[in-house]
Amino acid sequence: MKVDGKAMRTIWVEPDNWSVGVIDQTALPHRFVTARLASLAEAAHAISAMVIRGAPLIGATAAYGVCLALREDPSDESLDRAYATLLATRPTAINLKWALDEMTAAVRNRPRAERAAAAYRRAAEISEEDVAINAAIGRNGLPLIAAIAARKKAGERVNVLTHCNAGWLATVDIGTATAPIYLAHDNGIPIHVFADETRPRNQGASLTAWELGRHGVPHTLIADNTGGHLMQHGLVDLVIVGADRVAMNGDVCNKIGTYLKALAARDNSVPFYVALPSPTIDFTVADGVAEIPIEERGAAEVATMTGRASDGRIETVRIAPDGCAVVNYAFDITPARLVTGLITERGVIGASRAALAGAFPERAGTAE
Ligand code: MRU
Repeated sequence: MKVDGKAMRTIWVEPDNWSVGVIDQTALPHRFVTARLASLAEAAHAISAMVIRGAPLIGATAAYGVCLALREDPSDESLDRAYATLLATRPTAINLKWALDEMTAAVRNRPRAERAAAAYRRAAEISEEDVAINAAIGRNGLPLIAAIAARKKAGERVNVLTHCNAGWLATVDIGTATAPIYLAHDNGIPIHVFADETRPRNQGASLTAWELGRHGVPHTLIADNTGGHLMQHGLVDLVIVGADRVAMNGDVCNKIGTYLKALAARDNSVPFYVALPSPTIDFTVADGVAEIPIEERGAAEVATMTGRASDGRIETVRIAPDGCAVVNYAFDITPARLVTGLITERGVIGASRAALAGAFPERAGTAE
C-alpha cells in the first residue's frame, strides 16, 4: 500500500541486510514512525507490546525474530529459546505458531553455519506468501461485492461493515478483510466502509480508518455499539471481518465484539463473511468455542483511553473509577453457524469441517 505516495509494507529487512523494520502501530494515527528490530528480545517485545499486531503480521514478525536469534547464535538451544520466547508473546493468533513451525522446519536439519541464511530466506518467503494469499483473497471476495453493486441503483454505494483492523497493517500488505474492499474500490465499484472503533484498543479508529483514508476508500467510523442499529435499518450490505484462528468446525476467533456483529447480522439477514489466509486455520482444534485460548490483557486498556489532546500531546486518561474491577478479553468466538462464508486464497467456502478439509486437504491431512 502507499503511504504519502510511497509503496510500503508493514515489515521489511533494512538496508544493512539483517535488522528488521516495522511500522510502529502504537503511534498511529497521530504519527507515522517506524521501528528497527535488532534482536530476538526486540522482536518479541514488538509483538507483545503490539508495536505490530494482526495475526498474519505477528507470524511474519515472529519469523524474522527467529532470524535475529539465529544470526547471533545458530545453536539448537538458541532455536528452541527463540521458539519458546516468541510463542509466549500472544496466545490466540495461530499464525504465530504456524510461522514458528515453518521456520523450525526450514533450519533444524541444516548445519549451523547455514541456519541464519536459511532462516532469512524462509522469513522472506513467508512474507511474500502472505502478500500473494491476500491478493487471492481479494480476487475471491470481489465477486461478493460486485454482485451487491450490480443490484444497486445508479449512484448507490455498497456498504461494508468491518471490525478491528484486518487491513494491510495487520498483514504484510493488502490485508485480509480489506483485500476485496481495496480491489473493489480500485475497480471503480462505489464502496463505503463502516469501521467499528473496536474498544478497548481502538484498532478500527486508529488503524482501519487511517489506512482506508490513505487509500482513498470512503469510510465512516462508528462506535462499536452502532452496528446493530445500522443493520436493522438496511444500511449495511455485508460484513467482512478477519480472523486470528479458525477451528476445524468453522468457528471463527477474532477481535472481541466480532460475535455480537455476527448475531446482529444474522438477525437482520446481512451476509457475514470472514476473510482469512490458510495459516489462520488451526487443524488441531476441533471446536473453536471450547478450545481456542482467549488472550486476556491488562485492565488499563479498558479503564483508560489514549489520544491526542488539542495541544497535540498524546495523553492517556482514566475513564473508570479508581479501583474499579476490569476484565479484558481480547478475542471472542463466532460460531460457524453465524458465518455466511470464509473468503480464503482458494475461494469462498463454507464454515465447516468438510469445506475446510476439502479446500486445504494437505494441511487437514497432516493434523489428523
Ligand atoms: O489484537 P490484534 O490487534 O492483533 O487483533 C487483530 C484482529 O483481531 C484482526 O481482526 C485479525 O488479526 C485479523 S488480521 C488480518
